[in-house]
This record gives sequence, C-alpha cells and structure tokens, in this order.
Amino acid sequence: MSEIQAIYLKDYKKPEYEIKDVNLIFDLHEEYALVTNRMSISKIDESVANISLDSIDLELVELWLNNLKLKETRYHYKNEKLTILNVPTAFSLKIVNKIYPQNNTELEGLYKSGTIFCTQNEPEGFRRVTPYLDRPDIMSVFTTTVIAEKSKYPVLLSNGNKIQCHDSFDERHGVTWFDPHPKPAYLFALVAGDLGVVNDEFTTMSGERVELNIYCDLGNESKCTHAMKSLKESMTWDEEKYGREYDLEIYNIVAVDSFNMGAMENKGLNIFNSHYVLADEDTATDTNFMGIQAVIAHEYFHNWTGNRITCRDWFQLTLKEGLTVFRDQSFSADLNSKDVQRIDDVKALRERQFVEDASPTAHPIQPESYISMNNFYTSTVYEKGAEVIRMINTLLGEENYRKATDLYFKTFDGQAVTTDDFLWAMSKASGVDLSAFELWYHQSGTPKIHVKESYENKIYSLTLTQEIPNAVDGSKQKPYFFPLKISLMNSCGTIKVEKTLLISKEEEIFEFTGLSKNCILSINRDFSAPIIVEQEKTEYSFLMKHDDNSFVKYESAQSYAVEMIESLMHGEEIDQEYVDAFGYLLEVDVDLSFKALLLELPSISTLMQRQEIVDFELIYKAKETLQKHLASIYKEKILELYRKYHKPLNVSIDAKSMGQRAIKNRCLRMLGALDDAEILRITQEQYRDSLTMTDRVVAFDILENTSEELSTPVVADFYKRYKNDTLVMNKYFAILAASQREGTLERVQALQNDEVYNEKVPNLVRSLIGVFARNYKSFHAKNGKGYSFIADKIIEIDQINAQMASGLCGAFKIYEKMNKINKGVMKRELERIISTQSLSKNSYEIIAKILKTH
Ligand code: PHE
Ligand code: ZN
Repeated sequence: MSEIQAIYLKDYKKPEYEIKDVNLIFDLHEEYALVTNRMSISKIDESVANISLDSIDLELVELWLNNLKLKETRYHYKNEKLTILNVPTAFSLKIVNKIYPQNNTELEGLYKSGTIFCTQNEPEGFRRVTPYLDRPDIMSVFTTTVIAEKSKYPVLLSNGNKIQCHDSFDERHGVTWFDPHPKPAYLFALVAGDLGVVNDEFTTMSGERVELNIYCDLGNESKCTHAMKSLKESMTWDEEKYGREYDLEIYNIVAVDSFNMGAMENKGLNIFNSHYVLADEDTATDTNFMGIQAVIAHEYFHNWTGNRITCRDWFQLTLKEGLTVFRDQSFSADLNSKDVQRIDDVKALRERQFVEDASPTAHPIQPESYISMNNFYTSTVYEKGAEVIRMINTLLGEENYRKATDLYFKTFDGQAVTTDDFLWAMSKASGVDLSAFELWYHQSGTPKIHVKESYENKIYSLTLTQEIPNAVDGSKQKPYFFPLKISLMNSCGTIKVEKTLLISKEEEIFEFTGLSKNCILSINRDFSAPIIVEQEKTEYSFLMKHDDNSFVKYESAQSYAVEMIESLMHGEEIDQEYVDAFGYLLEVDVDLSFKALLLELPSISTLMQRQEIVDFELIYKAKETLQKHLASIYKEKILELYRKYHKPLNVSIDAKSMGQRAIKNRCLRMLGALDDAEILRITQEQYRDSLTMTDRVVAFDILENTSEELSTPVVADFYKRYKNDTLVMNKYFAILAASQREGTLERVQALQNDEVYNEKVPNLVRSLIGVFARNYKSFHAKNGKGYSFIADKIIEIDQINAQMASGLCGAFKIYEKMNKINKGVMKRELERIISTQSLSKNSYEIIAKILKTH
C-alpha cells in the first residue's frame, strides 16, 4: 500500500500555468478512441521549467510542442504524470493519445453505457481522457469535435453551442461544439449515440430563446415529459428567486443507464442516471417523480453555483454542493409542500449524515485531507453543507440573503473560489458577523444540546448546554454559533413568545419575563440547526396536538414513539397516553402527505443511533410490537382511512393525489403488520387493481414480507411484467434484497444469476447488493454470513468499479458500535478486505478508517 497517499488542503498551491484554450478532437471507434488535444499554455510562474500534466493509463501516440515533435528525452511519464521538460513561457502543446472506452468499467473518463459513448469527469476523470492540468482552478475555453460512424452514432454532443457539422466522409460524420464560458475540465462532457429526443424551448427573462433537449434510449421519449416540465420550472424559479438566467443557446440532458451517481452538471450538457429522468405512472413511484424534479433542478442550479463560480480545489466541494442542495430543497419546498419537504430533508439528513457524523469516517463539510476524492461526495458535504447554508439564510433573513448571493455572483463570476470567499460575500452584504460561524466548516460530529427549563417568580428560564463530540482523531472541538428557533406556549396552545435565539457559548441562559403561568417549549422549530436536542421532560402529546410548527409536531410524534419502543426494549409497557395521542393523529385534519409522516414510526436507523451498543434483533422486535399494538387497537379506524383514500384508478401526480396515496399506503403498511387475512386480501387487490407503480410496490413489498406463499405469485407476476425495464427491475431487486423473511441472503445470492442482473451497472448493484447491505436483519446476522457475502462482493467489484466498491464499504461504518458477537465476525471480514492485493485506494481509505489503521 506504499503508493497510497493523502492529499492535504494545507498543501494547496496556486497553479503555475494557465491553459488559455483547448481544442479537442475525438475519433470514436468500436475498439478504441483517438484523442487529439491542442492546448495554448502559458506560464504564470516564470521560474518553473517543467510542466506536469495529470494522466492515468496514458497511451501516447504523438506529442508536439509548438511545431516540434518531441523525442522521448524531452518528457517522461510516471506516477500518473506526463512531465515535459524545459518548456517556454508560452507554447502550444498537441497530444495524441489512445483510450479504450469499451473496456472502461470504472465509468470515469470516456466510457460506454450500453451503446452510448459518454463521459464522467468530476472530480478527476478527465485525466483518463487526455493529459491535462486536471484541477478545478484551471479554467479554459473548450472547442470539441466528435467524429463517429453515422449510422451507429447519429447524435454527437459536447458542451456549449453547436458550431459546425462535418458530413464530408462516407460512413463517418462529425460535429464541432464551442463553449465560450471558461470551465474546469471536470465540467467537460461528450456524448455519442443513437438517441431519442424530446425537444422544447424556454425564453429567459431578458428574452433569450433557449433550445431544450432531453435525450434518452429510443422508445423512452414519452417518459421524459416530467423531466422537461421540471427543467422549465427550475429555470423560472432561479430567475425569480436568485435573479439567475441561463447563458447558452442550448441546454442538453442525456439519460444513460450506467452511471456512478445521480447526475452531473456538465456545462450545457448534463448527463443523468436514467433513474432521474425517465418516469410514467406505470413504472415510476411518486417518490421517483419528486426525485426527478429535485435532481433536474439541482443540476440546472449548478450552472451558477458550481459552473459560473466553481471550486478552487476539491476541499471546497461543499461550496457548490451544499449551496446547490439548499437551492434545490428550497425549490422543491416552493413547488410542493413546504412542511413535508422540510421533514423529508431532515429525515434524510438524520438517516445518513448523522450516522456518518458518528462514525470513524466523519469529516467536516470542508475536509482537511483525502486519499480518494471520490469518497467525499458524502451526505456531510451535501446535506449537512445545505444545513449550513440554511443557517446562514436564517441568520441573514431573506432580504439580506438575496443581497448577499447577488454580491457573491457579481464578485466571483468566472472564478474558482473558496468557502471563505462565499462567507465574505454573505457577511459583507448583510453586515452580519459570521466569524464565529466558520467552525461549521471545520469541525465534524453532531452537537448535542441539553435543555433545562425552570419557572419561578413569573420568569421562565431556559438553559442550553452544548455537548460537542471530539473529532475522529480524539481532539477536542469548540461550541458552535447557530440560530435556534423556539416558541413558548400556554396550556391552551397559544404562543406567548416566538424567537430565534442566537447560541454561541457552551452554556447559555435565556430568561423570559411577564409570563403569568409556566409555558410549554417548542424547540428547534423548522429544525433551524442540525443538532440533537436532549430534553429532561417533554410534553410530547401536547405538542403533537397543539404545536403550530409542523416540524415540531412531527418530531414530538417521533420522539414519543422512540420512548415507547425503548420502554418495550427494557421490558416495560406502552403508555396509554401515547396510544391516545396516536389515535388523535389518525383523526387530525391536515395535509395528507404530512399526516402520513405523522403516522410513521421511527426508522430502525433512528433507534440504532440512540444505542451505545447496537443489537438489531432487539430493536426490530420492540418496533414490531409497538406497530402491532397500534394496528390492532385502531384497525377499524385505519381501515376506514385506507378505504376513504384508496383510488386505484387515479394516476395523477398532483399534490392531492400523491397525498391520498401516501396516507392510504401508510395505513396499508400499518395494517400489514397484523398478518390478517382480510388485510392481505386487500393488499393483493391493490397489487392487482392499482394503476400506479406507487401502489404496486407497496403491495408487493407487504406481500413479500408476509410469507413465501403470498410472495411467490406476486414476484412471478412482477418479473413477467417488467423484466425488460431495468429501471423497474431495480425496484424488484431492492424489495427482495430488503425482505425481512427468512432466507433473504440465499435469495439475493441466487438473484445475481438472473439474466437482468449485471454487476457492471451501478443501479443494479445498488438495488441488490447495496440494499442487502442495509438490510440490518440479514446483513448483521450473527453467523456472519451477511458480512462475508458483502466482503466478497466488495473485493470482486473493487476490480470493476472502485467507486462502487467503496460505496458498499460504508455498510461496515457501524463496526465500533456493534455488540461483541457481531463485532468479532465483522472484524475478520474487514481485515480480509484490507489485505486484498491491489485493493483500490477508494476502498482502502474507508476500511482503514473503520479499522483505525491509518
Ligand atoms: N456533481 C454531481 C452533483 O452533485 C455529482 C457527481 C459527482 C456526479 C461525481 C458524478 C461524479 O450533481
Ligand atoms: Zn451537485
């Protein structure tokens, strides 16, 4: 492992060269591709003699400096650097090299997804395409010509505007693209294929017409309507909310099946995982539709936050990602339900980011070092990063925040900047001092706030103490500065005080006078800060009924349920007060999607995070007991709700229809716990009669989890119906891999041989193997079989696609918190992985952190 090295933020050095422009020619063939790369380069630092270009697996054909073909004495290639000796102050460099897209299984650089040529260059893929100064602070103007066989690749795309078509050769043709906006290489993209297209247009607020295209596999065009609608909504929203307009004549999106991540914001040519483009009611769930809207928006918003203003180095990743996630969350909140959006965002944060923050892979939103940058596209950088921007938004207020983003865009347009530059703009335009706030960028772990209340002499006093976890290396960390929204209510639920407290010290005491009676506290309203709140006593059922803040209402229902499940784990009984409060939620008249959230019991992950030593068997058993208890007491009421909102023929995706499906499916899931013949018959009917995928997967999932007898026919039917649609087959594999029935591991192993399954396609691996690794019951089976299966897969997939393998390694993050038996068997597997010959640095970095050997 001697060649594995960490990169440090403190070592950042300014570039020594600039690349004024780049001219690329791609000659695409079935067996290989020839890349011709012409760059005009000049020295920024005159004192340097050599230039070192990043390059992986270089197969050099020719190298020219100005008009001189270079001999091998003038350059060398080692340690992934092509170094050219003694270059002049300004020069042009021409490099011709050969690459093999059809053998590229890492899906970085230029590769093939099915029959489509496409690229993925963030963060460091471009060095697999051609030698380059592959770092985001090198920004250049790109001209790109793509040449390929006409019949197989009628569509040839790259960034920017199309400036020329070359039709002169017989069987081959070419297109030249020009992107006037200087950009780093990670935003470069190219696509060639025989694609279907949906076409539309948008007129910007200053009257510029933009051509919009969404490309997909032929035959899928009708599934692009929702994505196109979402794109236009995003363009309008960014004009209205941030004053940001699009800046090219054309905006292209291409959907591909083999993609490591969700989507990529390449300038003028987004490349998407088809999961985030294609949808219709028969094949996509309501969650899928919402996901498409959010990801289309996210990539579009990057045009300003990421592309026009980019990152100086990869340690600044949250500069573009945290901000862009905050922007897409705000967009989704504005277009759909604000309350539901906020709760969903918090849920996602706590399920993934809080777990990461409590693990040995915890890191600040601005990390200090990395071995593989690919490992830092994390929920911390993204989702916690978005929470940090949200706190700034709260501290500044809407009006100042808009002034501050305007200043940010005006000052840094066209530059590669740092999070400090962003904070400068925020504080400069608003006058708000953010120096104490900066810690959020540099510390890791989730702060815990302990709450003490007292009431004496008509003074209500609130004492808040911050408990700050140590950093991963054991060092002490400091208390944070953050906004904490609270209110105080009287016993009728009338708000007496509503405030945003500014917390900055380890201990803070706030006193409220003029209150004739003691009050009830509603804290961290809207989840104004990403913290864990620990209260001595909480009026859960009161808050569930009376709090006007939807987040706290939800939170109280969750916390109360957590308390009950923990009671059950300790052999205690369920409070009648809780059961009554749950009964109230069944009756409450609120938005149906929100109501579905109120009725949801805490996730296994939420429960697990509260345990010092984790034992999943106990958690599952207690949660199931509570679920059954509630379902049997309220069976009639829940069934009535189900019947009221079950509309099997309604396929609309408006908010009302989605809300109806959310609540009635929540009801069906609750009742599913009962193992009751009538309920199971209703579930089978829903599977058979409903026209939406939303309804079908819920019924499928319940039946799969009930018994082999009920599962078998529905598994067969679903397979027959959808085996030719891989996006739907992802759902099939995921449901089977998440199954709580006996024998899941054996079924998952067998499914690997299914003709639809393909270990080279990330979506399929995530659905089958990734979902299994998060099926706590089977993965953490005490016999260790789940662990050894996943370890085998990591070792195998690591050779195919290191990024995918290191993603799977994440399942072992919980290692230190496991009980003795599990920990013992897990250790064996972790050591087996890390001692594998030629393990990628991606997987090495994660496993080494878990084992603390680095
Ligand atoms: N930059 C992409 C996004 O957030 C994510 C991504 C990272 C995609 C790396 C591919 C590879 O939208
Ligand atoms: Zn992004």
